Amino acid sequence: MSSPRKKPEELRSYRWYGVNDLRSFGHRSRTAQMGYHSSEYMGKPVIAVLNTWSEINSCHTHFKQRVEEVKRGIWAAGGFPVEMPVSTLAEPFQKPTTMLYRNLLAMETEEVLKSYPFDGCVLMGGCDKTTPGLLMGAISMNLPAIYLPAGPMLRGNWNGRTLGSGSDTWKYWAELRAGKITEDEWKGIESGIARSPGHCMTMGTASTMTSAAESLGLTLPGFSSIPAADSRHAQFAALTGQRIVEMVWTDQKLSDILTAKSFDNAVTTVLAMSGSTNAIVHLVAVARRAGINLTTARFDELARITPVLGNIRPAGQYLMEDFYYAGGLRALLVELGELIDGTQMTVNGQTLGENIAGAEIYNDDVIRTRANPLVARDGLAVLTGNLAPDGAVIKPAAMEQHLRKHRGPAVVFKDYSDMAARIDSDDLDVTADSVIVLQHAGPVGAPGMPEWGQLPIPQKLLKEGVRDMLRISDARMSGTSYGACVLHVAPESFVGGPLALVKDGDIVELDVDARRLHLAVSDEELAARKAAWVPPKRPFERGFGVMHQMHVTQANKGCDFDFLETPSTCGSQESAQGQAHSAQGAQVTSSKPSTEPEIH
Ligand code: FES
Repeated sequence: MSSPRKKPEELRSYRWYGVNDLRSFGHRSRTAQMGYHSSEYMGKPVIAVLNTWSEINSCHTHFKQRVEEVKRGIWAAGGFPVEMPVSTLAEPFQKPTTMLYRNLLAMETEEVLKSYPFDGCVLMGGCDKTTPGLLMGAISMNLPAIYLPAGPMLRGNWNGRTLGSGSDTWKYWAELRAGKITEDEWKGIESGIARSPGHCMTMGTASTMTSAAESLGLTLPGFSSIPAADSRHAQFAALTGQRIVEMVWTDQKLSDILTAKSFDNAVTTVLAMSGSTNAIVHLVAVARRAGINLTTARFDELARITPVLGNIRPAGQYLMEDFYYAGGLRALLVELGELIDGTQMTVNGQTLGENIAGAEIYNDDVIRTRANPLVARDGLAVLTGNLAPDGAVIKPAAMEQHLRKHRGPAVVFKDYSDMAARIDSDDLDVTADSVIVLQHAGPVGAPGMPEWGQLPIPQKLLKEGVRDMLRISDARMSGTSYGACVLHVAPESFVGGPLALVKDGDIVELDVDARRLHLAVSDEELAARKAAWVPPKRPFERGFGVMHQMHVTQANKGCDFDFLETPSTCGSQESAQGQAHSAQGAQVTSSKPSTEPEIH
């Protein structure tokens, strides 16, 4: 646990400000240049407020104000706040995918914290990849840190109907393509579906990861459920600023909070809320930064005993605003009982159990009781088989149940462009029993493993009334999406995984209950296809992308860069293809935790 209270001269920032030499003269004179008297910062914790605000991040528009509230709290507690802008990762706008840049935010977070005179930090994120990116970097630096979740936006509204981010976009897009709604109605949806600050209010990646951050013990209790527009969100921002100052004095670091059990709590939370499949990739990566070997198999183990209690779209009916009014995450965690380990420590210095004590469910349709779950178990399922030696993922709660056990012929698209060009073609040989397969959509190939995994249903099937069919790719899928979509196939096709070998007409077999994904093609035939397979040209020739394609790990390892993982986490099993991919990069297998810079 935390150490005895620090003395001012033991602060990390003292090395910049407190010593009497030429360099510290420079630091003090330049701080004076910014208008601060030495009495405002000398001997006080210097707190970085890492802000992912930008003018293009629609989910973080309130962060310009929230950062002032955080700073107010830091000042009030006797700290010295320093706002630092970091990569914004605006999900709707950044192409090809924010996932390509999650590790860039993680690197930036670690390097900013390391290279400036910071004693602790507040991490301001929420829009999908910002939560894992900030946490990964902060864990590697391991200063006292606290997370400020952006909070969900208010319910969408259109013509008297409630709209959910993403989920209703896909739903009404399908209706438009099927000719069931007009262009004017589609425009009305466009203006009403996102009508306040905050992240997506469905159980997408943002709500999933901010809830997971709270279960990990990294936010003030109850914070992740508060809508961004609620005045209590602003109050919690100020309290977060106050708290980080105390965390610095007691030297309460992330390594004092994160354990294998706290990650189990986070996984259980994700499962109980029918959270985004993206959480698997992100939590694995976050855990591996903390030196904890969280595996996809652990997700599957916990899924078999965890009921889905959060009745939130896309798997359920309601939105995060309803979830907050129904009691929020604290109430859900109480209901999970012994499935949550309440002894785990959190950022406010109390255990998770102490933080959730007394929380109540106020609407047991929104937060179901264990006696009446939305789904009894299997919020997520991890599949393996000859088509996915290192695993694949499906979300059984968000698919048509007749597809849980399915067998059908593959219709293969070699990449996204091929799919876009042919999927709606009248002469595409496809039926409702077909299995749509998309290749080259993984971490290296796409690149960045975009959220393409909710592959479109061919228009001619939509017109016949088909709304779900089995679809398989090595992509991810937005947490706001739904359908019988097998995702995260590892190793990916681009590096020679078996998905690269599938041909039109091959029979694909899915059995969710048996956790099996099988290609009914003989081993000999697959070996012959593999021998004839030619590695495709890598997508990047310059810039950050080159680093990405050389060092990104496969989905089952979290898609971190191999040289940024904390040692001791490695050692989980992977297939020959996965190992072969690692060997293609200039792999560094012995990364070290962040070290302090020399100050000259
Ligand atoms: Fe930011 Fe969905 S677009 S969370």
